[in-house]
Amino acid sequence: MKLFILVASLCLTLSTVSSSLQPYEAIFNFGDSLSDTGNFLLSGALAFPVIGKLPYGETFFRRATGRCSDGRLVVDFIAEALGLPHLPPYLALSKGQDVKHGVNFAVAGATALDPQFFYQRKIGSVMWTNDSLSTQLGWFKKLKPSLCTTKQECDNYFKKALFLVGEIGGNDYNYAFFVGGNIKQLKASVPFVVEAITQATSALIEEGAVELVVPGNLPIGCSAVYLTLFRSPNEAVYDKRNGCLKAFNGFSKYHNSELKRALGALRLKYPHARIIYADYYRAAMPFYHAPQHYGFKSGTLRACCGGGGPYNFNNSARCGHIGSTACKDPSSYANWDGIHLTEAAYGHIAKGLIHGRFATPL
Ligand SMILES: *[C@@H]1O[C@H](CO)[C@@H](O)[C@H](O)[C@H]1NC(C)=O
Ligand SMILES: *[C@@H]1O[C@H](CO)[C@@H](O)[C@H](O)[C@H]1NC(C)=O
Repeated sequence: MKLFILVASLCLTLSTVSSSLQPYEAIFNFGDSLSDTGNFLLSGALAFPVIGKLPYGETFFRRATGRCSDGRLVVDFIAEALGLPHLPPYLALSKGQDVKHGVNFAVAGATALDPQFFYQRKIGSVMWTNDSLSTQLGWFKKLKPSLCTTKQECDNYFKKALFLVGEIGGNDYNYAFFVGGNIKQLKASVPFVVEAITQATSALIEEGAVELVVPGNLPIGCSAVYLTLFRSPNEAVYDKRNGCLKAFNGFSKYHNSELKRALGALRLKYPHARIIYADYYRAAMPFYHAPQHYGFKSGTLRACCGGGGPYNFNNSARCGHIGSTACKDPSSYANWDGIHLTEAAYGHIAKGLIHGRFATPL
């Protein structure tokens, strides 16, 4: 019985995703640094952001674009697969610019929850940006009249528009973990984060979205920043197969399972919409298990760009700052700067999603 359901859902996944890949004419993306194509840089939140200069952007664009990677992100690969241009960041739009192929609202550092949540808990000062998911949603609503006007026109347009809601939520946990929060405390915030994501998803459906992809969180226990901050002499905290921190990966899985459950409820509420969960965790895990198979000759846990230490992540010399250097060949690394992944890693994740294996409607 279980096997049958699994097989049936896999077939459904493959057929729905492949049959739906062609006709999209626009992408609207919301999220954080995993998909920001320039908004944070343009927001001016920092006077001298390192993502505004090389080596950020060195691989594909040959210049810093505001992407937190050496090159392209998952959203860029999705746009390419759909035959669409890379999404312009919302804050770069000029008056009257043609936006019919979509816009990117993601901002590096953004949280799913509003900044007040963090200020109330006295950790607001560590936030990079206040442009949380609800701010990004507000930008979309402001832009909407330039996309379509009548309900009929909007319905027709949004039928062929893909809405990517995330990845978002990773920073809600990062900020708290980086100032000393522990897993038990953080688990208590998961329902709030998941609620913020499903609320934004609902709001987009109310605005007319019918094709939505909501990604989960990456395996944070495999991330150089977590591996460095939570380094332990106790071997038992590491997963023997890949060297990742088991408890933190367990935390990502917990967030993801809660998110999937909430999306299930949303599907019942909006049966006319197609709400796909994108499993970033499972799409990334194969390269942590078998780095060589994916061309990650330098491994998957050490950052390409950083200022030393066992994972080449040094908080006093992060990528782009004095004391850091970038590796020669980023494609042989999965981790770019300790926090974000390389273009090569994002490419593998995107492939997994586009070919349907890690994108599920059930
Ligand atoms: C976010 O908002 C708070 C409160 O209004 C403000 O103090 C802070 O400087 C803002 N942060 C950024 C990065 O703009
Ligand atoms: C981290 O960076 C600081 C500043 O450049 C440096 O003094 C320190 O030695 C570095 N630590 C490691 C482990 O490389």
